[in-house]
Amino acid sequence: MKKQKKIGILTAGGDCPGLNAAIRGVGKTAIVKYNMEVVGISSGFLGLINKDYIPLEEQMLSGILTLGGTILGTSREKPFKKTGHLSIDKPKLIKAHYDELGLDCLVCIGGNGTQKTAARLVEEGLNVIGIPKTIDNDVWGTDQTFGFDSALWIATDAIDRLHSTANSHKRIMVIEIMGHHAGWLTLYAGMAGGGDVILIPELDYNMDVVNNYLLERARKKKPYSIVVVAEGIEKPKKQSAASFISERIEEGTGIETRKTILGYIQRGGSPSPVDRLLATRFGAKAVDLIAREDYGRMVIKKGEKIKDILLSEVGSNLKLVPPDYSLIKKARGMDICMGCKA
Ligand code: F6P
Repeated sequence: MKKQKKIGILTAGGDCPGLNAAIRGVGKTAIVKYNMEVVGISSGFLGLINKDYIPLEEQMLSGILTLGGTILGTSREKPFKKTGHLSIDKPKLIKAHYDELGLDCLVCIGGNGTQKTAARLVEEGLNVIGIPKTIDNDVWGTDQTFGFDSALWIATDAIDRLHSTANSHKRIMVIEIMGHHAGWLTLYAGMAGGGDVILIPELDYNMDVVNNYLLERARKKKPYSIVVVAEGIEKPKKQSAASFISERIEEGTGIETRKTILGYIQRGGSPSPVDRLLATRFGAKAVDLIAREDYGRMVIKKGEKIKDILLSEVGSNLKLVPPDYSLIKKARGMDICMGCKA
């Protein structure tokens, strides 16, 4: 039977749990529900520049739901970024290879940078659908990205484990959580893991406030404290957030302090059930949009519903934690230190 449409899928930017679930959601819906042909593009936009792709058959999509990473590979290639090597026009190559492949639409699974590139490709005349992913949860327009829930489990588990060793040694433990410029993961993991101090990029912090709070805990005979810091907080360029904050705490309080940088562990491994479901629902919705030729859109979660918005609306916007966010207010109401006076 003649295929209805031919679509390409790529995963771009930093990886996260749930990418394979999204690839499977797109691929199976396209093949089974709509009789479409599916092409997997390697290493994000690099694959379209270098003509590196493979046809994705239905059986290749079996058994990948639970796998971490991405079977397609990823890269941080930004084709519209001027690099100084003006010899190759990457957007032009992408457009030429998209046409040569005979694609009807390109599905771009990625974070903010990827959705920005996707919107630029729409301006260049390509049919594109975006699917938002990232552990940072900072993509504009969607309540949640997939990847976030899995990372939240990992970060919370890490904080849980710090409590007992902190208690044994009567120490202050500083843990650094990823999130780029956003504090979602730090705030949620900090609250779920029972952090005493939570520092996020969206709120200014004052080391006197933090140190006085920690000294007060010691005076109240609380044997240890957990300080959860986002990688993106204000700090000197060359130092990690965890190093900077733990040094300032030790010199300001005199209490023995240790640091942990959780790093890429937060991005690895099998996706949580919530992320598997979200990625699957995003994937299926993306193909429904393609089937009705409603291009230039990004799928989103709004409340319990999966909806879509214009890719051009996403643009360069970031979804940051609002300073008056309800969870911040709850934290303050429980005497959790957010680094500054409310
Ligand atoms: O966007 C996801 C993320 O893991 C951020 O939390 C972090 O700042 C960044 O990617 C790390 O990027 P890279 O994989 O390029 O080191």
